[in-house]
Amino acid sequence: MVDSFNDNSRAIIIGASGGIGTALVAHLAKSDCFCEIHALSRSGKVFDSGKVTSHRFDLTREHDLESESRNLKETGDFDLVVVAAGFLHSGTLGPEKNLRALSFEGFKTNFAINTIGPAMGAKYFLPLLGRESKSVFAALSARVGSISDNRLGGWYAYRASKAALNMVIKTLSIETARRSAYPIVIGLHPGTVDTPLSEPFQGHVAESKLFTPEYSAGKLLDVIDRVKPERNGELIAWDNETVPF
Ligand SMILES: NC(=O)c1ccc[n+]([C@@H]2O[C@H](COP(=O)([O-])OP(=O)(O)OC[C@H]3O[C@@H](n4cnc5c(N)ncnc54)[C@H](OP(=O)(O)O)[C@@H]3O)[C@@H](O)[C@H]2O)c1
Repeated sequence: MVDSFNDNSRAIIIGASGGIGTALVAHLAKSDCFCEIHALSRSGKVFDSGKVTSHRFDLTREHDLESESRNLKETGDFDLVVVAAGFLHSGTLGPEKNLRALSFEGFKTNFAINTIGPAMGAKYFLPLLGRESKSVFAALSARVGSISDNRLGGWYAYRASKAALNMVIKTLSIETARRSAYPIVIGLHPGTVDTPLSEPFQGHVAESKLFTPEYSAGKLLDVIDRVKPERNGELIAWDNETVPF
């Protein structure tokens, strides 16, 4: 599943308590290439594998980013970092159907978790990735963040925060490529996945188009396995197709 990485590779999954994050950790724990997975989440979710170390961590707190990245850096180079955290709705906030529904709180929350969090995650965790052999920094984005693909409207803050994330990823890919071919920096679209994030909005989704987290995470790891420096900065979907910005 992830054969293009060196043996004894080491991964960090941020947002490891989410549907997709949990499945990514579980897949990596079963892979032969990866010997160590650090699972970062607000709850410090524990996994049933000797390869996985759990850490309590909030992506929106610079103190957590600073101290966790410093501790992990002391243990040596990493090969893969995936930011699988994200926000779409809470008890009080949800995606806006129209202009009247826009709120400062909605925009602030979406941007804090979906854009600024991954950007700051890159600031602190991307330097932990090795440059001599294949390494990847990936952030879970979404097709709805594609401006050219926006035909339905609505979901202002979520769409805008993911479009901004795509810009962060593209910009980051240009900066990192100036120094070396690795790390490769990509955004990932997981498809529509049956998780708490999508749960209230699954009504219109055909059963065949609603993926289990395990299926989606397996596909995303295939993408990560196949990705080469030529695709640096792209938003890549679960089926390995490039999603236009
Ligand atoms: N599901 C889909 O259909 C779909 C489609 C397109 C894109 N995506 C993207 O895929 C990613 C994963 O989504 P999912 O479906 O797995 O959602 P999920 O099950 O709701 O998981 C979201 C994760 O984000 C974490 N998180 C939220 N705020 C955080 C913070 N401040 N610090 C650290 N972690 C934080 C949550 O942690 P807690 O457990 O602590 O709340 C949870 O682990 C998101 O970026 C989402 O936008 C999902």
